[in-house]
Formats: sequence, structure tokens, C-alpha cells
Amino acid sequence: MNRAPVTLLSLAQRKQAGEPIVMVTAYDHPSAVIADEVGVDVVLVGDSAANVVLGYGSTVPVSVAEMLMLVGAVRRGLTSALLVADLPFGSYEVSDSQAVRTAQLLVKKGGADAVKIERGGTSVDRAAAIVAAGIPVMGHVGLTPQTAASLGGYRAQGRTADQAAALLRDALALQDAGCFAIVLEAVPAAVTELVVPLLDCVTIGIGAGPTTDGQVLVWHDLLGLSGPQLPRFVRAFADLRERTVAGLSAYADAVRSKEFPQAEHTYLIPDAELDALRQRLTPPPHHEGEDPSTSSGN
Ligand code: KIV
Repeated sequence: MNRAPVTLLSLAQRKQAGEPIVMVTAYDHPSAVIADEVGVDVVLVGDSAANVVLGYGSTVPVSVAEMLMLVGAVRRGLTSALLVADLPFGSYEVSDSQAVRTAQLLVKKGGADAVKIERGGTSVDRAAAIVAAGIPVMGHVGLTPQTAASLGGYRAQGRTADQAAALLRDALALQDAGCFAIVLEAVPAAVTELVVPLLDCVTIGIGAGPTTDGQVLVWHDLLGLSGPQLPRFVRAFADLRERTVAGLSAYADAVRSKEFPQAEHTYLIPDAELDALRQRLTPPPHHEGEDPSTSSGN
């Protein structure tokens, strides 16, 4: 089915109409094709790629070059979903011009429609600069994994009145900076319920309860491809890990028992060609007194 491209305007309209927005992360081309086919509204190439697909221990080490490769692969798989790319840690904090340059790379080389930036504080100015350069920006408050160490680890945020008020201040500042949407991560549902009505921009939740305008989950988490230790806010909607292990084990067994491949998995050659090949490969008869190493075979 050909869907109209998702735009900032159509997302705002969805918010107004109270129609939940579906957002998911993706890191490769086949996943992007499936997300688009299913009608997902927003696909995020999150810097969660660092731990989810690149094997790093946190989101911090992933580079712009690594993100660019993943964003490009996802871009080539999407026709209608809005593509958002994370600004990786260390690629935007130093100055507005650093932030704009990185955002431009993700849009120009990667094909992203928008970028996502973590935190309030200095990120508010960076977001404003990127928006001023013509690139849509999604904010991200609450648990911001790039700076998890300074938040006391991977834990829910906004659990005191002071913290929750600070979270709202950050969200409002990001909105004023021009962000079209804001992700709220790991925030008590009751706090989200108070904060969301105070924001005009689109809100997307992950572990923030049901009252945001949309939800986002990490691809591997929601499909049951991650390990058994999942954050509280994840529901696995499928068990692809179990099915992948079963499929891979069946393949290994079939190779080891020589049950695979069968005739239907191989290519044919015409009989005449095969005969000709056999003749060519048949060693010429060896004559008495002839040195086989110097024989031309003709
Ligand atoms: O990097 C990521 O996947 C994210 C989402 C969890 C919002 O930032």
C-alpha cells in the first residue's frame, strides 16, 4: 500500500485528532522496509544502535560515521515514515556550529528528515541553531542515556517535584527552541500526565505512561531479540530470539548431517556441456617412453 509521506504537519494533526503516533527504532534496510510496510509513522535511527547492534556497552562511543552508515541503510528502506536520526554523544555539545554541521551530515549524507538531540541545558541552544538552519529537531528529556552517568545511572527521572519541574522546564525550553516533538523517557506516568497538556508540540513516550501523543520502543526489545533483562517499560510483542535460535540450530543440524542442500537448492548444467567438461578434465592417455610432464596433451 502506498501511504502519503509522514510530515511534521501530519504528526501535529495526529496529535490534534488524538490519534496515537507509532515510532520505532531501526538500524538496517530490511527492518526499515518492514516498518514502512506496517505503516509505522516515525522511524528513529537511535544511538541505541551502539549497544543494540554494534556491541558497545553504552550509547556513548558510537560515531557520526557509524550512524551515517545505519541512517543511509534505513533511508533506502523507507518511502513514507518520517526518518529521525540521533545526534551521537560528542557530535553537537561543543558549539552551535558543531551541532549544525553534524545535523547537516545526517540529513545530507544519511538522508534523515530530522535529528534528535538529548537533554535540556546547552542542547536547547543547539536545537535552536539546528532549527534555524532548516533542519527539524526532536528533543529528548527524562532519562537521557548519553548522560546517564550524571543522572545516577539508567533510572527513572522526575520522581521528585523538583526533578519533575526541571524536566518540564527543559521540555518547554526545547519546544520554544523550535522542536517539533519531544521524547519523554522513563518518567512516572503521573508526571507525564501533568506535563503533556502543557506542551503544544508532539510528545512521544518510552516508559512514560499512556498519555503521550505516541510511543517508541527499540526494535530488538519489542520483537524479543534482546536478552532476558529488559527495562520495565518494554513489552516484547514477539519472540524472535527463540525463533532465530530454533532456525539457526536447524540449519546447523542440516549442514552437519548433510541433509542440506538438496537437489532443488542447486543449479543445472546442460548434459552436453557437462560431457564436454568431463572430457576436458579427463587426463590424456600416457604413452610408453613419453615424459608426461613435457607432453602437450594434443
Ligand atoms: O536511541 C534510542 O533508541 C532512543 C529511543 C529509545 C528514544 O533514543
